[in-house]
Amino acid sequence: MDLGLSGKRALVTGATKGIGRRIAERLVQEGAHVGICARHQEDVEAAVEALGAQGTRVWGRACDVGSGSHYLQWIHDAIAALGGVDVFVPNVTAGSRRDPVEQWRANFEVDVLGTVRGCDAVLPKMTSGGAIVAIGTTAAVETFMAPHAYNAMKAALITYTKQLSQAVGPKGIRVNLVLPGPIEFEGGAWDRIKTHMPEIYERMRALEPMGRMGRPEKSPTPSPSSPATAPVGSPASI
Ligand SMILES: NC(=O)c1ccc[n+]([C@@H]2O[C@H](COP(=O)([O-])OP(=O)(O)OC[C@H]3O[C@@H](n4cnc5c(N)ncnc54)[C@H](OP(=O)(O)O)[C@@H]3O)[C@@H](O)[C@H]2O)c1
Repeated sequence: MDLGLSGKRALVTGATKGIGRRIAERLVQEGAHVGICARHQEDVEAAVEALGAQGTRVWGRACDVGSGSHYLQWIHDAIAALGGVDVFVPNVTAGSRRDPVEQWRANFEVDVLGTVRGCDAVLPKMTSGGAIVAIGTTAAVETFMAPHAYNAMKAALITYTKQLSQAVGPKGIRVNLVLPGPIEFEGGAWDRIKTHMPEIYERMRALEPMGRMGRPEKSPTPSPSSPATAPVGSPASI
């Protein structure tokens, strides 16, 4: 598929696993140059090597998106390494746990400010045709288990990205927020929930219209004769 991304320069945060990794893989498959980060240097090095196999320029360095100045330095150095920035995907989350006050701070720092600081840093370097794709969650807009900080902080991104799109649209820069439903992959949140809280996993899986969680990778289109409820663990698209 030609998405018109060949030669574009894209920054993706949290791109050694899960959705961010798949986004980076898709970008290099389309011929884009990519800059990535995650907190663990050895995982970043392995991802840079694997992503580089497509032949485009791939740059990465360990960075905690919640670290403020280190994060801004990573953005600066990634843009320098790629020779500019056309696409920015602030993908990282602080997740969802039950420590009430600290989790609110962590989600504000990582999910909200990680997106806002990143957009503030890349926008002056973007020209017409640039695109920001932030990552929300259906938990921000739908009934979801409990009133966690994660859900509310992700909801803040809806207002922020909508109004940012209005501010930079006249410059030819697009801003979108993608809200995935539950996405399962090895070592990810739903994989852990399946292992440690199987009753919650099953309750949530049963709410999915197709009877299964999504996966970061694209799956074959189901044939019309396929059962509506696929077995858990079968390939599924997001
Ligand atoms: N999975 C789902 O069901 C789901 C559903 C809806 C929305 N989302 C959203 O999709 C996005 C990606 O989630 P995911 O589940 O695919 O991945 P994830 O498990 O949250 O994280 C995957 C990547 O982010 C890196 N990372 C985590 N914290 C970081 C930090 N503070 N600084 C830099 N890198 C960090 C991880 O590497 P290190 O551990 O080495 O840092 C890894 O590369 C998030 O915004 C999430 O809220 C996910």
